[in-house]
Amino acid sequence: MNSILEVRKVSKRFGGVEALKDVSLNVERESITGLIGPNGSGKSTLFNVITGFYKPDSGSVYFEGKRIDGLNPNEIYSMGIARTFQIPRLFASLTTLENMMLSPKGQKGENLLKAPLRKTWIKEESEIANEVKNLLKEFDMDGLHKMPASGLSGGHVKMVETSKGILGRAKLILLDEPTAGVHYAVGRNLFEYISYLRKTFNLTFFIIEHRIDLLFDYVDYVYVLHMGKLLSQGTPEEVASDPKVIEAYIGGA
Ligand SMILES: Nc1ncnc2c1ncn2[C@@H]1O[C@H](COP(=O)(O)OP(=O)(O)OP(=O)(O)O)[C@@H](O)[C@H]1O
Ligand SMILES: [Mg+2]
Repeated sequence: MNSILEVRKVSKRFGGVEALKDVSLNVERESITGLIGPNGSGKSTLFNVITGFYKPDSGSVYFEGKRIDGLNPNEIYSMGIARTFQIPRLFASLTTLENMMLSPKGQKGENLLKAPLRKTWIKEESEIANEVKNLLKEFDMDGLHKMPASGLSGGHVKMVETSKGILGRAKLILLDEPTAGVHYAVGRNLFEYISYLRKTFNLTFFIIEHRIDLLFDYVDYVYVLHMGKLLSQGTPEEVASDPKVIEAYIGGA
């Protein structure tokens, strides 16, 4: 198996709560991998550990064979892992385009020594801006790039967030509930967009999603967390027919 991400025996506790207990999983390169589980099962905590927002109490995380647990979020981001948050963090007063422009890493204009040489970075900025405009056009958001982010619908906010990762040259993108709070059709369009991005840019997606019916139409492989432990894994068909999974959802946690 050609894994881009390996999580090995990760545990994380908050006081008396064992949010993750010995969780091990692999995300295959260029896959769309799902992460599901009832509320409070540890999904967001796992994303926070992978992206360096939390340090695991034990266990390790490898990205492209390099150990990343213990690194800080910026270091992990610059290695090529981008993420969205369960609650979107766009700057409402900036336009969609400006929000997206905040993310590409290593932009020449950010470097103090090169800042006076405006010509070098103006060219780079306009190339990135064109890339953004093409992406927006591809997904019916043509013209939206000038609109303040506060005027975007929930679904569009999620698309902008997803696109930020691409512009940051990420290889692995973690999405925490991308379709939360958006209409079903918008959610489907978002998953179509994700599939298109995966193919076009050879990206890998690891996605937490409560809309399992929608997720299962697009993922190659699924992991199920329950009370901090890995409960099941497999193709959508395998997981959907696993009695343990059905019990966890019906039993309600
Ligand atoms: N920063 C924190 N401090 C204390 N407890 C936390 C913290 N983050 C998460 N927890 C606890 O850890 C457990 C797992 O939470 P987590 O947010 O990872 O679940 P989740 O699967 O993402 O849930 P949801 O589907 O509701 O988003 C919960 O009991 C939660 O209350
Ligand atoms: Mg969560």
